[in-house]
Amino acid sequence: MDQPHDYAISVHGLVVSFGAHLVIDNLDLDVRQGEILGIVGASGGGKSVLLRTILGLLPKRSGSIRVLGNDPDAIGIEAMRDVERRWGVLFQQGALFSALTVRQNVEFPMREYLELPDALRTEVAETKLRMVGLAHEDMEKFPAELSGGMTKRVALARSLALEPDIVFLDEPTSGLDPIAAGEFDVLIKTLQRTLGLTVFMVTHDLDSLEAVCDRIAALADGRIVAVGSMTTMLACQHPWVKAYFGGPRARAESKAVAPPPQKP
Ligand SMILES: Nc1ncnc2c1ncn2[C@@H]1O[C@H](COP(=O)(O)OP(=O)(O)OP(=O)(O)O)[C@@H](O)[C@H]1O
Ligand SMILES: [Mg+2]
Repeated sequence: MDQPHDYAISVHGLVVSFGAHLVIDNLDLDVRQGEILGIVGASGGGKSVLLRTILGLLPKRSGSIRVLGNDPDAIGIEAMRDVERRWGVLFQQGALFSALTVRQNVEFPMREYLELPDALRTEVAETKLRMVGLAHEDMEKFPAELSGGMTKRVALARSLALEPDIVFLDEPTSGLDPIAAGEFDVLIKTLQRTLGLTVFMVTHDLDSLEAVCDRIAALADGRIVAVGSMTTMLACQHPWVKAYFGGPRARAESKAVAPPPQKP
């Protein structure tokens, strides 16, 4: 049984709407310390809205959110800045600042939150970039000169700049070919293990869910309708979850977990 302090993020009774458009409707979700939680859900179903609301970038109508034991509503702006320093984000859109080089992009959060000498800040940025597999000659490039996969790696490096406890990744492998996506998955898993990160990862990629996620949470009808392993997803009777995990790859998986056929 999980204890509340085991949770990096706890969301309860969350409601988010835009005018009359209810996007998140009484959502509950606990993210365990140190896990990679994969969030799946229909396009337009509210995954990015959920992520942005947890980050305090969108207002909630009601409900509670605790991040690393803190209630953003209660702790005040200064204390909240300390909490913000403990998370990194790879946004779905607008991953990098186009006017800054790769290295400057990774230095940006450090400029915002830390007072480091220039040389040290540069060194830390270069270390993060090497960690995600960027070559030295790419560090002075501008975002427009990068491939999609490199852009994602730089955005990941930037999310790690402040040595966070939690990283939020919104579709980190979208737009990558399956090999590049697979490599990115391995990178995320390795970083999570070596840095002890908690990872909140929105993804549409069934392979990523299988390969890297400790648990999966399915968002449908504005709520988390199932949370657990792939086996839990396959057993879930919610129509969207059934349709999503009932595709050809998921069927192969369900065969793998089914008992072997009996000999006549
Ligand atoms: N700032 C906003 N103002 C008004 N409506 C918004 C805003 N942000 C999101 N929405 C609406 O909220 C709904 C959920 O959007 P969201 O971006 O969370 O979907 P998603 O699950 O992330 O989809 P995708 O998988 O395509 O990224 C959509 O109907 C979207 O139009
Ligand atoms: Mg989204």
